Amino acid sequence: MNKARLLMLWRTALPGLLLLLSHSVAAQSQQPNAQYCLVCHGSAAQGNAAIKAPNLSMLPGWYLQQQFTAFRNNWRGNAAEDIHGKEMQAVAGNMSDAEIQQAIAFIRSLKPAAQPQTEGITADLQHGRQLYQTCQACHGSRGEGNAQLKAPPLAGQQRWYLAQQLSAFKNGWRGNQTNDDYGQTMRRFAQSLADDQAIDDVVAYIDSLASPAKQ
Ligand code: HEC
Ligand code: HEC
Repeated sequence: MNKARLLMLWRTALPGLLLLLSHSVAAQSQQPNAQYCLVCHGSAAQGNAAIKAPNLSMLPGWYLQQQFTAFRNNWRGNAAEDIHGKEMQAVAGNMSDAEIQQAIAFIRSLKPAAQPQTEGITADLQHGRQLYQTCQACHGSRGEGNAQLKAPPLAGQQRWYLAQQLSAFKNGWRGNQTNDDYGQTMRRFAQSLADDQAIDDVVAYIDSLASPAKQ
């Protein structure tokens, strides 16, 4: 086998190996410490495409807390096909309230990580801008989020994760549970996006917004 082929094989195998590693860490660790988040979310909590774990470094404390509540209440991760939601739900379910507070404080101590520019995606930015008019009432004109409305910042989030979540809301993996008022509200707006192209367009527009400073 030549060197180039070996390298290619390694590149293809790496995401799977990392996933395996993260699964065994999730299974073994009964008392996750804060550093453990970085195994899946990336060394600077900037997100990890191989595991589909989002950027946490740009999220405010109240939203991190809101999502731990959502995972623990089975509002996120309840659908059988939602493997990424289930993965994080297992992590949240193994943590005590004190460990959650500790992990949130640790994430908040990190600097917001800069996002790599996504290349080679065909999306209609103009259409995305139009679609985003509906979103900005809650998520802000710069995608900075709104603590009063409990709508998270979107600017600076990984593009594939935004698309993943809009699909999750749309197909009812997220926002389909009684008492999940914020999720249910958001679900209605995700449903207003006609198809995958509309999702790609609005996500491309969000991606064009400057990543805000941490709130
Ligand atoms: C085994 C891998 C794994 C570990 C370890 C892990 N996460 Fe996650 N996390 C994920 C995945 C995958 C998602 C995306 C879930 C989805 O698609 O719904 C996620 C989502 C989240 C979200 C939701 C973010 C948002 O924008 O809504 C938060 C908050 C979060 N994780 C916090 C943490 C913290 C804090 C830790 C450390 C205690 C941690 N995670 C450890 C895999 C992991
Ligand atoms: C009425 C207010 C409101 C409007 C309008 C709205 N959202 Fe949301 N959005 C929310 C709330 C609240 C949440 C948090 C839901 C939760 O806690 O699970 C959210 C969550 C999200 C998430 C998940 C982010 C993450 O980190 O997991 C995405 C992506 C999103 N919204 C995109 C959009 C887009 C795109 C639009 C426009 C088509 C939009 N939202 C319109 C209130 C709104």
